[in-house]
Amino acid sequence: MARSKGRLLVLEGIDGCGKTSQLQQLSSWLPTSGLMPAGSQLIVTREPGGTALGKSLRELLLHPPQDADPGPTAELLMYAADRAQHVDRVIQPALERGDWVLSDRFTGSTMAYQGYGRGLDRELITDLERIATRGLSPDVTVWLDIPLALSVQRRGSREEDRIEAEGFAFLERVSNGFSNLAKAHGWVSVMADRPLLEVAEAIQTALLTRAASWQR
Ligand code: TMP
Repeated sequence: MARSKGRLLVLEGIDGCGKTSQLQQLSSWLPTSGLMPAGSQLIVTREPGGTALGKSLRELLLHPPQDADPGPTAELLMYAADRAQHVDRVIQPALERGDWVLSDRFTGSTMAYQGYGRGLDRELITDLERIATRGLSPDVTVWLDIPLALSVQRRGSREEDRIEAEGFAFLERVSNGFSNLAKAHGWVSVMADRPLLEVAEAIQTALLTRAASWQR
């Protein structure tokens, strides 16, 4: 896929890492950061569920009706279908307009959850990723790194979705997966076991540094 004018920024992390709060912080900071070209918009979106089709897939993935829970391969393909639609209908058109896209999760989540967590074939996941994204990769991925025990504590007693309910050992594999991916792919890693504003500032500093190396 041809390189387009906009930028794709992705936030990744295990459930309970503070991703939602940091997404809010980033979406108000980015347009005033001086990083985005004049006239460009910030599109804030997420996976699964960044399109109308994706919203239905999200519901089926996370809160399936009785007896409709997908097996591991079906789950992998449903996340891939969500991503294909998201890239086609939301992300790629925005990048072509020159807009910036901030996505709550992207390909890293599939490798961490379905690859490391479920133990599905990682080469197959990479092939699927290429199909779903048509070769598009993020300009920067920020990983919110948090000790697993703290993430579980932060999630507190709120109702778990199907993936969160997989238990500690599963999430530990996912967490190790994120750590490996962050090292292998040069993601920005930010310790998220700190007060919200401190984490937000660390993300902003890292993005300013990273963006300085981009060609304008
Ligand atoms: P969210 O509530 O942070 O949006 O995450 C939705 C859940 O879906 C979360 O438990 C992680 C999981 N997930 C995967 O297992 N694979 C994926 O490819 C994506 C995008 C999310």
